[in-house]
Amino acid sequence: MAHELTFSNRSDFFKPSQTLAITAKAKKLIASGESVISLAAGEPDFNTPDTICQTAIESIQNGFTKYTPTSGIPELKQAITLKLQQDNHILVTSDQIVVSVGAKHALYNVFQSLISPGDEVLLIAPYWTSYYEQVIMAGGVPVIINTNMMDQFIPKIEDAQAVLTQKTKLIVINSPNNPTGAVYPRKLLSDLAELAMQNNLWIISDEIYEKLVYDGSEHVSIASLSDDALSRTVTINGFSKSFAMTGWRIGYSVASKELSKRMTCMQDQVTSNPTSFAQKGACQALKISPDFIFSIQKTFQKRRDLMMREFSDLSSVKISKPLGAFYMLCDISEWKNEYNLSDWDISNRLLDDYGVAVIPGEVFGDNTVVRLSYATSEVNIIEGVKRIKDFARSLK
Ligand SMILES: Cc1ncc(COP(=O)(O)O)c(C=O)c1O
Repeated sequence: MAHELTFSNRSDFFKPSQTLAITAKAKKLIASGESVISLAAGEPDFNTPDTICQTAIESIQNGFTKYTPTSGIPELKQAITLKLQQDNHILVTSDQIVVSVGAKHALYNVFQSLISPGDEVLLIAPYWTSYYEQVIMAGGVPVIINTNMMDQFIPKIEDAQAVLTQKTKLIVINSPNNPTGAVYPRKLLSDLAELAMQNNLWIISDEIYEKLVYDGSEHVSIASLSDDALSRTVTINGFSKSFAMTGWRIGYSVASKELSKRMTCMQDQVTSNPTSFAQKGACQALKISPDFIFSIQKTFQKRRDLMMREFSDLSSVKISKPLGAFYMLCDISEWKNEYNLSDWDISNRLLDDYGVAVIPGEVFGDNTVVRLSYATSEVNIIEGVKRIKDFARSLK
């Protein structure tokens, strides 16, 4: 007799990434010849620098195509420790680095290694969607600290204090921030480190956008603030955003030796090493001239300014001024309230009827906003915002 095949209970809670889904839908429409402007993408639109590609190609040709140590090749881990010392003032040894299949994978390793069922995890909303889902996957309970556009999405320390319980295990911070573009000031980071010390919390600091800061803003690594902060922080970073290497899938965690050992054991059993020749490419990325980073910073800052200018004559939405990353939030409360449209209605109509892809804020825990990415050409930014304005006019 045939029995119905069943799935794990756990898998009932797996959700697709909506940011990836909307981006993929926009790409598919563009490929099929539709006139679609994607302001949805979470990746730089530049090519990976040639020298990085050449290094990886040569390493394949030289036979560097076998398993490597699970936590990464010594050459890359050594280069990362040097980078952390120079750029972030974080002093660690190679055995505190685990190189993974992207920062997303590094985060998964950390959540799985720190969270026991029922542990509460503080997330600052709007938050990057995968934190929420990965915390759930680890059996944790996300607890939200809200921020708003008026305060440039900078959290208040009292709001963090107010949600602490006996079960609070860790706080996730992400500066420069996806989706808000906020860059946390040193004082706030030092207050958060103090809060973590007093309440014995782990800190996860996702610094993947560290190089993309504008108007002279400073990126500060919370782990650099004190020995205590260093011991309780897991710093997450990767090569995707700064070097246009999203497809290479190389990220890393920086943590205590004990935690790194546990994460390596997990990686041993789940993926083994990240791709051998992609690691070689990452080594080369760390040798690239700072001029490359300056030039992409300049490009993104110019695009951000352009996007803000293009929005300046649209009074029915408010926009934030991002100081980092490559996203801008657009407050759509007026459209919601006056025309009874949800953030999903708006993003669906923008894509289906006006050919512009944006991400609904519900995905980031705030349904009063939509997220726009300015990791696209100036022509696309002008046309994309024009289409949003056409949509706005159609509402009247
Ligand atoms: C805040 C944040 N962290 C991590 C990642 C994942 O980066 P990676 O490509 O290294 O997995 C992203 C990608 O969108 C991100 O926005």
